Amino acid sequence: LENGLAKTPQMGWNSWNFFACNINEKVIKETADALILTGLAKLGYEYVNIDDCWSELVRDSEGQLVPDSREFPSGIKALADYVHSKGLKLGIYSDAGAFTCEVHPGSLGHEYDDAARFASWGIDYLKYDNCFNLGIEPKERYTKMRDALNATGRTIFYSLCEWGVNDPALWAGKIGNSWRTTNDIKDNWESMTTIADLNDKWADYAGPGGWNDPDMLEVGNGGMTYQEYRAHFSIWALMKAPLLIGCDVRNMTSETFEIISNEEIIAVNQDPLGVQGRKVYAYGPDGCYQVWPGPLSGSRLVVSLWNRSSKNATITVNWAALGLESSTHVSVRDLWKHEFVSLNSASSFTAQVDSHSCETMGRVEGAEWKGLGHRDEWG
Ligand code: DGJ
Repeated sequence: LENGLAKTPQMGWNSWNFFACNINEKVIKETADALILTGLAKLGYEYVNIDDCWSELVRDSEGQLVPDSREFPSGIKALADYVHSKGLKLGIYSDAGAFTCEVHPGSLGHEYDDAARFASWGIDYLKYDNCFNLGIEPKERYTKMRDALNATGRTIFYSLCEWGVNDPALWAGKIGNSWRTTNDIKDNWESMTTIADLNDKWADYAGPGGWNDPDMLEVGNGGMTYQEYRAHFSIWALMKAPLLIGCDVRNMTSETFEIISNEEIIAVNQDPLGVQGRKVYAYGPDGCYQVWPGPLSGSRLVVSLWNRSSKNATITVNWAALGLESSTHVSVRDLWKHEFVSLNSASSFTAQVDSHSCETMGRVEGAEWKGLGHRDEWG
């Protein structure tokens, strides 16, 4: 969507993966504080996004949405003012249906009222869900809210949460700044890897202005190992996925912080070239040794060597298999170790990769690589 936003994938935090419906203004304010105190805000995590359950169960007598008076007694405008005073942005949630998934009022048929209200509160981001949609074409429902947001005159990031139904990558580029390509992520290895593969299919359709969204990060929520969370963060960054933290940043472990604050990995995600990296080949037992490259600005490319097997392994990337000229001299930097691990490597690069990890997130310098291209235009 050409609204001047999403030149690179959005970064921030969202309440759903950790808090679900247990949200209130204190949690949101303390999260904004924590993003600043930990330094995460400085690294680019700017959106503080409230998910489902923020509103009363019914609209007021004028048909307007109202914040839950017990959990958000000061109202959303005051919350937006607070978040803005910290230099951050506030996101809210609604649904392109009669109700939200947790059965709060939805925006279907109220698009212009709700968009105007969000804008008047100072909202910067709308996540728009797909429950209770009465079987109406998604394109129609999501376009209506785009137009309503546009009519407010406020620039609002528009995140489509359509769960990949009807292949949104094929039609959402002119409607939203990102679109979900899959069902909800769960905090486990199986779900995370499955979602990565599903999202990979749509790589051609991502680019500045609109990104494939394989759902929010689970890093720090406890269901995966340290190595698995590192792989999750690596691959999300490489796929140019939104980096929306989904844990309680007020109480995170140093391991969680280390992962989500890795500046070299964040830089891959926020690279100005904006091309989604993808799985180019997989070999070994059950195709568990995987090579996921993606082009970066400045004649560089990023390669993630992903070991999906349950045993430690050695994974090799052959530069020729990625289409690099044999004369290319490459140096490889490990973005988790933060050091160069190979200078002027010859025709290939090999690394030990622990089970379930992306131990090596290589950044290859000096490689003029045209292996993957931008989509030309959204349909
Ligand atoms: C479904 C969405 O996919 C989730 O991300 C979350 O927003 C829930 N609905 C909230 O009900």
